[in-house]
This record gives sequence, C-alpha cells and structure tokens, in this order.
Amino acid sequence: MCAAVYVLSTVTGYVLTSALLLKCPNLLHRKKRETFVSKHISHRGGAGENLENTMMAFKHAVDVGTDMLELDCHLTKDEQVVVSHDGDLQRTCGIDTNISDVTYAELPPYLCRLGVTFQRECFCEGGEDKRIPLLRDVFDAFPNTPVNIDIKVNNDTLIKKVSELVVKYDRAHLTVWGNASNQIVRKCYKENPHIPVLFSLPRVLQLLGLFYTGLLPFVPIKEQFLEIPMPSIITKLQDPSRLTRGQRFIAWLADTLLMRKALFDHLTARGIQVKLHLW
Ligand SMILES: *[C@@H]1O[C@H](CO)[C@@H](O)[C@H](O)[C@H]1NC(C)=O
Ligand SMILES: *[C@@H]1O[C@H](CO)[C@@H](O)[C@H](O)[C@H]1NC(C)=O
Ligand SMILES: *[C@@H]1O[C@H](CO)[C@@H](O)[C@H](O)[C@H]1NC(C)=O
Repeated sequence: MCAAVYVLSTVTGYVLTSALLLKCPNLLHRKKRETFVSKHISHRGGAGENLENTMMAFKHAVDVGTDMLELDCHLTKDEQVVVSHDGDLQRTCGIDTNISDVTYAELPPYLCRLGVTFQRECFCEGGEDKRIPLLRDVFDAFPNTPVNIDIKVNNDTLIKKVSELVVKYDRAHLTVWGNASNQIVRKCYKENPHIPVLFSLPRVLQLLGLFYTGLLPFVPIKEQFLEIPMPSIITKLQDPSRLTRGQRFIAWLADTLLMRKALFDHLTARGIQVKLHLW
C-alpha cells in the first residue's frame, strides 16, 4: 500500500513537472537566440521558376522576397564548394561524371531543360544562367539573406570548407546547415558549434521518443531548426503506386506523431524554429 502511494505520487509529480515544463520550457532552458525568421523558403532557390540552384534562381527568389534560400553543396576535385543538388552531372548536365571527379573550371553548363523533382511532369525552361555556382558566389551576392545549406556528402573537407566560408563572410547568424544523416550533423556541429544545425532524421525520431515519454522538457537540445516535409504531402507528390506499403505507413505514422501543436509550441518557446516544407 505504502509502495503504491509512493509510486503514484512519483508518477504524478513527474507528469505534472513534465507538463509544466512542456508549457513553460524557459523555466529550465534559456531560449535560443533566434537568429532569423524564415517563413518563405525557396527550395533549391526556387526550382520550378528558374533552373534550380543557379544564381539567377537565387536572385529571382530574393527579388520576390523569399526569407531564406535552401541549397545543396558538393565539393569539386580541386576542393571548391559548389551549389548543386546532385553529386553527378547526369540529370542536370547530361554528362556521366561526378562533381568530385572534375575541377570547378571543368564543370559543364546545365542543360536547358530540367525536370523539377517535386512536380511530376514539370519541366523548367532555363534562362541565360546555366552555370553551377560556387557557394562563395551566393554569399557575395546575398550578404543578408539567410541560407539553409544541405551538406550532400559525408566529406570532412566539404564540412570544413563550408564552415570556413561562413566564418569568412561572417554569416553564422544567417546560416543553418545539416543533413538527414546524424553523422554529418554531428560533424558539422563539431566543426563549428556557432552555426545552427538542423535536426537529422534519427534526431527527429529521438525527439518524438522524448516528447511522448514526457522527457523532452528536461533535456537540452543542440539543434535550432526542425524542418519537416509534411509527410502527407510527400505521399501525394510521389507517384503513390511507387510507394511501398512500408513507406506509406511511415508517412502516415510521421503525420500522426509529428503534427502536434504542443510539440511545435514547446520547441518554438525554446527558440527552435519549426518549418513545414510545402514546396
Ligand atoms: C560517381 O560516384 C559513385 C559513388 O559515389 C560511383 O558509384 C559512380 O560510379 C561514380 N560515377 C562515375 C561516372 O564515376
Ligand atoms: C572529400 O572530397 C575531396 C574532393 O572531392 C576528395 O579529394 C576527398 O578524398 C574526399 N574525402 C573523403 C573522406 O571522401
Ligand atoms: C545527406 O547526405 C547523403 C550522403 O551522405 C546524401 O545522399 C543526401 O542527399 C543528403 N540529404 C540531404 C537532405 O541533404
């Protein structure tokens, strides 16, 4: 009897504390400094409007008032950080070569027409600009625009070079970087903890585990951005017949578990930005 009372009061105490801290996280955690607000993100600099990841696409996106450019980085053979989604040039340039196997000077121009990954059967007619840009070009052209950098290769030199550029252009406060792989995100954070990082996929799962066990309000979080593609939208965009049952189940589960106002409000109160990708 006595033990039961003890267990019950402990559990009640835990639940109440957890609920209180979930509502008011700043009792325990100092709110992260919100470096920039980004409501409208241009994926690959607004693929669909211009050739993806070109300076022209970025310029257009900034001109129409985007809050943040989202771009992907690779490393050339001569260790230049370039902005490109794919690591190989087959889809974008029609040439069967990897970016890491050619120098920047040797990179071919983009094809005139690129399929837009997120819209089936949609092609984008490119304009004049067909050059694969350097990350440095983007930083030069848009010194005040926040940039979300996806590190596309698990390569220490790439991570180091991106960090060096961010430092050189003094824009750690305008940058967030990461990858779905937690290994890459850990390397990024280790390389330069002053640059905000995204939640990797394993960390999103961990986040859910912490949230549903009530532990989340008690643990510190290093990430500053939670970017999640609305799971239900992914399943709509992909050809449904190409999704396996497993993938459909995961999308449904993610939708159900992740889309929780209490979770989003808690993260926001801790200074962690939550972004739902809509494309
Ligand atoms: C590009 O790199 C991948 C490994 O990342 C390799 O499998 C592929 O053969 C390479 N392609 C070319 C054309 O060298
Ligand atoms: C990183 O990329 C550079 C340039 O492409 C390459 O020379 C180097 O071998 C890569 N490092 C690793 C660990 O893959
Ligand atoms: C993460 O990195 C892997 C290589 O390790 C790459 O294939 C993938 O496209 C990257 N994903 C994102 C979202 O950047």
